[in-house]
This record gives sequence, C-alpha cells and structure tokens, in this order.
Amino acid sequence: MASFSAAAIAPGVLPSTTAAATRLSYRSFVSVKCLGSSSFLPRLCLPQSELRRSTSLRTSYSTVSSPQSFASAPEQLKSAREDIKELLNSKFSHPILVRLGWHDAGTYDKNIADWPQRGGANGSLRFEIELKHGANAGLVNALKLLQPIKDKYSSVTYADLFQLASATAVEEAGGPKIPMKYGRVDVSGPEQCPEEGRLPDAGPPSPAAHLRDVFYRMGLNDKEIVALSGAHTLGRSRPDRSGWGKP
Ligand code: HEM
Repeated sequence: MASFSAAAIAPGVLPSTTAAATRLSYRSFVSVKCLGSSSFLPRLCLPQSELRRSTSLRTSYSTVSSPQSFASAPEQLKSAREDIKELLNSKFSHPILVRLGWHDAGTYDKNIADWPQRGGANGSLRFEIELKHGANAGLVNALKLLQPIKDKYSSVTYADLFQLASATAVEEAGGPKIPMKYGRVDVSGPEQCPEEGRLPDAGPPSPAAHLRDVFYRMGLNDKEIVALSGAHTLGRSRPDRSGWGKP
C-alpha cells in the first residue's frame, strides 16, 4: 500500500487534519505530540511582538481572557482529547468537527510567506467575520460545541483544538488514527482573518479547474484532492446551511 506523509505532501498545510488524513497507510503513534523543537515550529511561530500582543486579546466566543502561550500544553491536549471523545459519545458531531478543522486549515496559501496572511490552521475561524463567510455556514455550531472545552483548557490554542477535534472525530467515526503534531498559533484578532473566497465553491461552472485552483494554492495535487474529498463519506449537506442537499 502506498504511504505518503502529510509532511511530504504539503508541509505548509501539515498542521491540518485534512492533509494528514490523506495518508494511505497508518502506523501506531503517540496520539498527542507537541512540536517542541520540531522543524515545523518555525512555520508556526509568530514574532515575539506578535506573541505578546496575542496574550491580551479576547475572542468572539471566549468568555475567559486567558494568557495564551504559543504551544498548547501536552497534558492539556491529552485531557482535551478525552473531553472531545466524551462530546462525540454524547452528541453525534463527527462530521461538523471534521468540517471545522478543514475550513480553518483550507484557507492556506503556499504562495504567501507571511503569517497570518497565508491563512491555514490558525484558529481564525473562531471569529464572527470568518464564520459569516458563505462557505462556513453552520460552523458556528461546531464552535459552540468546542467552546466549553476551550474554556477548560486555556493553554490549548483554538488552532490546535480544531485540528485535535477533527482528528479525534475521524478516529471515533472508525477512521484511522492520524499522526498529529501540535503547536499551532492562534491569530489574535478578526483583522487577521483571511478574506472570503479561499475555500472551494460547491457547484462552480468548471469544477475540475476550480478545485485545482484552490487545492494547488494549498500545495496539494490531484490525488490529494480526491483523497480529501473522501471526507464526504461523513455527514451531509443541509439546505439551511450551504443551500445544498435535501431537508
Ligand atoms: C473539494 C471541495 C469541497 C467542497 C466544494 C465542499 C463543499 C461542502 C458542502 C457544500 C458541504 C455541505 C455543508 C452543509 O450544508 O452543512 C460539505 C460538507 C462537508 N464537508 Fe466538504 N467540501 C469540500 C472539501 C472537503 C474536505 C477537503 C473535507 C475534509 C477533509 C470536507 C469535509 C466535509 C464534511 C465532513 C462535511 C459534512 C458536514 C456535516 O454533515 O455537518 N469537505 N462540504
């Protein structure tokens, strides 16, 4: 069976569950890891000035203004993962949590060097301005499900929490254990959200060309587009959200 790692296929998108989900073979791994001195860390780090700024800002949905470190604490990540499992056991929310992780990550633009302008898994989807993007219809419900967990584990960034929830949902739905790494940095305010239009449209006039435009921008190829689209084996469309599907 072919095996290619998320790191190999899309280093810039690695923080997302979605890239990791394209692995075609799996091995046992430590479920929750932190980046520590990993070579990926520089991609995820902010300048110190930016980090300091991010400690003082509140978010739209957070009721607690807590200092934010630039790497989620490993013990908190492990506990948050257990809480996500409990959430999934008590409420069927696997599809929407996967979609949340993907939509936070899927704004990534490999051609933009600067963070956070390049988008990607950076927690920007917690802000109302981005939740209101057409493609994100309904995802506020996923955020509401995760907010109590975020409030409980203040050192876990939204960016990590979204990907942790997505990976855990894949696993709990019977999918593979995804070898995740953590240490994503949150954007600090709504002004750092990406502009609307980076996620793919459903039903564009030239679907193949459109998908290539969007996914190539993330550094992904045709095979990976197909593999990632397999996520739609989970969940469904809702007319009251995306306008697609049956009531
Ligand atoms: C290929 C381009 C893609 C398009 C155009 C697209 C579009 C859509 C649309 C319109 C919905 C229905 C949303 C609703 O009505 O609530 C949906 C649902 C969903 N999408 Fe995608 N999507 C794409 C790629 C992906 C990827 C890459 C993933 C994850 C790796 C993903 C995960 C999901 C999941 C899990 C749902 C079900 C959500 C639920 O049931 O609440 N999608 N997608």
